[in-house]
Amino acid sequence: MTHAFCPGYPPPYDALVTDYPGDDIYPPAAFRVEWGPIFHRGRLDGSARLLVVGQDPATEEDVARRILVGVAGQRTQGLMTKLGITRSYVMVNTFLYSVAGQSGGTQHQHDQGIIDYRHRWLDLLATNNSFDAVITLGTLAASAYATWSATPTGAAHQPHLAQLIHPTYPESASASGSGTLAQDMKKLLDNWNSGLPALAAALTHPDQPQDTTPYGATFTPADLTPIPDMDLPPGLPEWMHSPGVWARRTGTTPNDKRATLTVVVPADQRAWV
Ligand code: URA
Repeated sequence: MTHAFCPGYPPPYDALVTDYPGDDIYPPAAFRVEWGPIFHRGRLDGSARLLVVGQDPATEEDVARRILVGVAGQRTQGLMTKLGITRSYVMVNTFLYSVAGQSGGTQHQHDQGIIDYRHRWLDLLATNNSFDAVITLGTLAASAYATWSATPTGAAHQPHLAQLIHPTYPESASASGSGTLAQDMKKLLDNWNSGLPALAAALTHPDQPQDTTPYGATFTPADLTPIPDMDLPPGLPEWMHSPGVWARRTGTTPNDKRATLTVVVPADQRAWV
């Protein structure tokens, strides 16, 4: 059996992964710079028709070294499946490093060094692809994309824009006491449902037929799509593509927790048992 894999960073993107901002631009008090930058996911060969702008990498992304591979990624991948986009996409995040607490992201969203590097990515992606649509996930991504849209290159590239609620908003909002998980899930899925028709109409070059059946009250297993082999570095085990949480920050103190990622092979993937 052969396996597809992400071939890495061809020119002109190689320059962006050779020369990227460190802790002089991303303050370690606000960003988990110790886990390294995580740059993108998806096509860098000019074939992307959909650009997705996420927020910041989480735990699974720190391990897989590609963005949007955990729960948020699988919800997003499921949304793209509905839109018929199964390979013609590319994703970047607002922040190169994981945010250590949401306030760090808000506090540093206007930092010029962070913006300048993100604009280098957006400029190259816009000029090397023919995007039919852009999806921003969450308010920080919407604002980041709006800032770039106001630049000369951004103004020259204006595909259909869908500013959607972030895929893990229900978990974060309900954990911070803003509604119940069920209420926040409905808010997310109502928002995604309202974006589907215009996105489907704008994406005139789908990879497979679209099926914009609206989401129900919550995500079902059928609404999640595993991350394809072609998006991940070679050799990643099957379970790193699949729905489910397999990496967590663990530790008894905040410092230990920040320094420790625990990766667990899911119970149903333990071939040795
Ligand atoms: N992981 C990412 O890479 N981006 C998000 O916005 C959320 C999770």
